[in-house]
Amino acid sequence: MKGSQEPFLVGILSSIVGSLANRLKTGNTVCVIGAGTMGSGIAAHLANIGFNVTLLDLTTHSVHACFDRAKSAKPPHFFVKGTADKIRLGSIEENLDWVKGADWVCEAIVEKLDAKRSLYEKLEALVDEDALLSTNTSGLEISLLVKDRSDSFKRRFFGTHFFNPPRYLKLLELIESGFNSDEDSAAVLEFLEQRVARRVVPALDTPGFIANRYGMWSMYQATHIAEKLQLSPEQVDLITGPFLGRPRSGSFRLNDIVGLDIMEDIARNQMARCPEDPYIGTLVNPKSVDYLLSQGNIGDKAGKGFYDKIGRDYLTFDLITHAYRQRIEPNLPTVTDNLRNPLAERLKLGLAAKDEVGEFMRLYLLPALRYADYLKGSICHSIQGFDRVMQWGFGWEAGPFEMIDMIGAANVLGTSKQYYSAAGQLKPDETDHFLIVKEPEFRSLADYPIVASHGLVDVRELGEGVQSIELRTKMGSVPPQGVEDLHAFLDINPEGRYVLASSTRAFSVGFDLKFFLDAIEREDWLAIENALERLQSLGEKLATRRVVAALHGYALGGGLELALSCPQLIALSDAQIGLPEAKVGLIPGGRGVTMMRQRCQDGPQMMRDTIAQMTSGYVASNAVEARQNGFLRSQDKVIFHPDMLITRAREMAKVVEPVAAPEWRQMPPFTAGMVDEKLKETDGLTAYDVLIGEQLKHCMVKSTSYEDCVRLERERFLILCQRPETKARIAHMLETGKPLKN
Ligand code: NAI
Repeated sequence: MKGSQEPFLVGILSSIVGSLANRLKTGNTVCVIGAGTMGSGIAAHLANIGFNVTLLDLTTHSVHACFDRAKSAKPPHFFVKGTADKIRLGSIEENLDWVKGADWVCEAIVEKLDAKRSLYEKLEALVDEDALLSTNTSGLEISLLVKDRSDSFKRRFFGTHFFNPPRYLKLLELIESGFNSDEDSAAVLEFLEQRVARRVVPALDTPGFIANRYGMWSMYQATHIAEKLQLSPEQVDLITGPFLGRPRSGSFRLNDIVGLDIMEDIARNQMARCPEDPYIGTLVNPKSVDYLLSQGNIGDKAGKGFYDKIGRDYLTFDLITHAYRQRIEPNLPTVTDNLRNPLAERLKLGLAAKDEVGEFMRLYLLPALRYADYLKGSICHSIQGFDRVMQWGFGWEAGPFEMIDMIGAANVLGTSKQYYSAAGQLKPDETDHFLIVKEPEFRSLADYPIVASHGLVDVRELGEGVQSIELRTKMGSVPPQGVEDLHAFLDINPEGRYVLASSTRAFSVGFDLKFFLDAIEREDWLAIENALERLQSLGEKLATRRVVAALHGYALGGGLELALSCPQLIALSDAQIGLPEAKVGLIPGGRGVTMMRQRCQDGPQMMRDTIAQMTSGYVASNAVEARQNGFLRSQDKVIFHPDMLITRAREMAKVVEPVAAPEWRQMPPFTAGMVDEKLKETDGLTAYDVLIGEQLKHCMVKSTSYEDCVRLERERFLILCQRPETKARIAHMLETGKPLKN
């Protein structure tokens, strides 16, 4: 669908008033209108990543009330507290003219056609002539929203459908108004992907777009089939959770999270607007939903829905008696015995099973896949886009078309087609295959094949003269053999350019604790000292090489010590970064103490605070906070795009050079006293924690040189290893995964 203007005229107009595409190249001022769940969340996301943000709601009172709620949202909208203060708050009543000067005006007010249209009418006279205009509607028709607006308004108008919460969900559906030029659509797509740090799926202007049209239907379908088969919410959540490659919330927990009132709203809107859809009858409320709505038990917002959380336990709404009852643990071996099989096998197994799982899957999943097949021609530009919406917006491991391929189209649709093949993906109109989109800039480490292995070190070719190296261990943990293999690998080509990363869920959970516990039990102190020396010298080697560490997930302990040693580091914003060795009765012994000392040697207060933090086993909950707390240096980077870590790390590795170590500064003697005071004052430290703090103090305050500090680090580490409290802490951590406070 293209604009009413001739391209020639569009060209002339843009040269007079400046073009949207040009403005988006550098624009970083945005005005978000509507400060509710989504508006505040979008404003927070944009402020987090560096936009200048204005947020407006109906009145001064309402904007402050909404924003106060947003500031205490869980999980948090903001990376660090200070960011919230940078957002300018105002009211539509008094400050609507603040949209002047905004590069982007993003509307997120109530989902009411008339309210949105009357707001646009007021905006029309105020917005800059080349600013991007968009709505966050979850399903109103875009072309209808802009019906009475000028051509200029329509041309710059898009649906930008964020998902809740915007900081955490990377999906964004982009919907054209029907009046946009190809150039502007491409510029907006690039802006949203590169600058707004989201993954964009273009969708057609149909009710509910892709996510709500299909996602909502499959949520309703699960509830209907559960009622029909008289299965319990616990059973259905077990079947439709990780077994189907979906989040643990399954179906009924998800209903509560989304809210039954919202589901009903969306369902009603779609039923009214899609009468020709033969599947639409599924959107009639199931009996249980009607009952819960009549009781006001609409889900998490109301405190209860299908589940009622009492303390740590959940009561369950019984679909037959309509009363809450104790949880009944489901007994479904087809699910629990097969969770480790690949998804394709689980699907086939589930569909063939002669139990409740099989019955449910045949009545729920097969129609759901057929519905996707029915919808594809009218709601998406590509089946890959459709699949991605379900993967990125709903956390599914595979979208419906990938699932049809896994099960075999013959078994689902009675035809022999293959949606994805070497030739590409089938077009939505099924005329032909076309390219599978694999945007190279969004590749994850696992998308690059391993080209060589040296012991535990796997090597991948990232291109442009850069290779990645990673330890082939669980969650990137660092065993002594891994240290040896990295040493040996780095000696093969000292000039090489590398990204140190991990293809597992974490960059690294730290050094191999089991090794320490075994050595402590054998009283083999020499083995521990050797392991520390090798870890320290590996760090020293990394510091002299062209290596960029790329952090995501957890970046802890020994793994982080290696990353901190690299000349440059890049961290995904959500990475949790820290040296929590104190929690297992230790101090960082792989240069961690020494490197942190070098980063906080500018003043005794900084050193005091760093020591107190390390004593409490502090881990920064995100990379922005980690920077504030000294884990990142000025040359290190934080990246907000969840899928661009490897691309950005590679760019850095192309030019990285070793950096000189900072000059050693002696600390004034009174620093030790300040540390003692601070440790005394810090809440929650046990006597043994304080003893660990004293070892940190000894290394950091008393050391006279770099060499002295790394030596002291090893010495004090060994002293702690000989204490029963440390042994107990390590054993407890290995057994339970939780710290022992002794
Ligand atoms: P909300 O109810 O939390 O917030 C709406 C805000 O708009 C309120 O603060 C209200 O004071 C303000 N408002 C109401 N009428 C207004 C008017 N006439 N002019 C200006 N402001 C007005 O709603 P929510 O959930 O944030 O939704 C906003 C938009 O985002 C809707 O279009 C919704 O469909 C869409 N959306 C919602 C999602 C969700 O999960 N809640 C997800 C994706 C999209």
